[in-house]
Amino acid sequence: MTTPADPLAESTDAAAPRRYTRTAITLHWLIALLMIVNVVLGLSADSLPDDWVRPVIDTHKSIGITVLGLALLRILWRVSHRPPPLPREFPAWEKLAAHLAHFVLYLLMIALPLSGWLHDSAWKDAATHPMQWFGLFQWPRIGYVMQLAPTLKETLHDRFGALHTWLGYALYALLAMHIGGALKHEWIDRKSVFRRMTP
Ligand code: HEM
Ligand code: HEM
Repeated sequence: MTTPADPLAESTDAAAPRRYTRTAITLHWLIALLMIVNVVLGLSADSLPDDWVRPVIDTHKSIGITVLGLALLRILWRVSHRPPPLPREFPAWEKLAAHLAHFVLYLLMIALPLSGWLHDSAWKDAATHPMQWFGLFQWPRIGYVMQLAPTLKETLHDRFGALHTWLGYALYALLAMHIGGALKHEWIDRKSVFRRMTP
């Protein structure tokens, strides 16, 4: 039973769900954790001792490909399961900002691993350094990119690398907004959205 004081009860539609499904919650926190770990690994790669660089980058690539798969699953789940509507009393601009931020976060869940995979496929040594998914099996490079002429590949390697870095910057900005928004609802508005996304 819910009472009027329960923030989860205040949606406009009585039939609407009040929380995300268990699958959506699991995928949200798993992907969030993997993406944050990957940012740390990606940023630290250049400052590590030489013999750490290869295993750290290989782990980064494996985690990134895993995120790509989980993000595709999550999007399929999202389009087939209605999310809980935001509380009625949130101002329209906040609802719009939350929806926009969520949409861009979905784009980044796909674009970050994809740009990394393109960058890695254009690497001049890709053919002699096969990519292994957590050392368990070989993960393919993007064949079309690998077969391009070496000079074009070199240019693309730099461009995809720059794109990967810029998408990283977009993620930091969006994540700051996303976490800031959730904390504002929690501490200032006193309308928790965490309870919709916690197991
Ligand atoms: C890379 C990390 C993250 C990504 C990509 C991400 C992405 C998303 C997306 C796309 C949604 C919307 C779900 C939907 O309606 O389909 C969402 C919801 C949510 N996220 Fe995150 N998130 C991340 C990290 C975090 C962190 C660190 C927090 C902790 C503050 C957080 C708290 C929440 C909450 C509370 C919701 C539910 C919002 C609501 O009720 O509408 N997220 N997240
Ligand atoms: C969750 C997905 C991913 C995230 C969040 C992510 C994030 C990052 C970040 C923040 C950097 C550092 C960029 C900088 O210099 O500022 C980086 C570097 C890099 N990433 Fe990713 N990445 C992801 C997936 C991938 C994938 C799937 C691949 C390849 C298959 C990949 C390959 C690389 C490579 C080769 C570097 C350059 C490392 C170096 O030598 O400095 N990334 N990534």
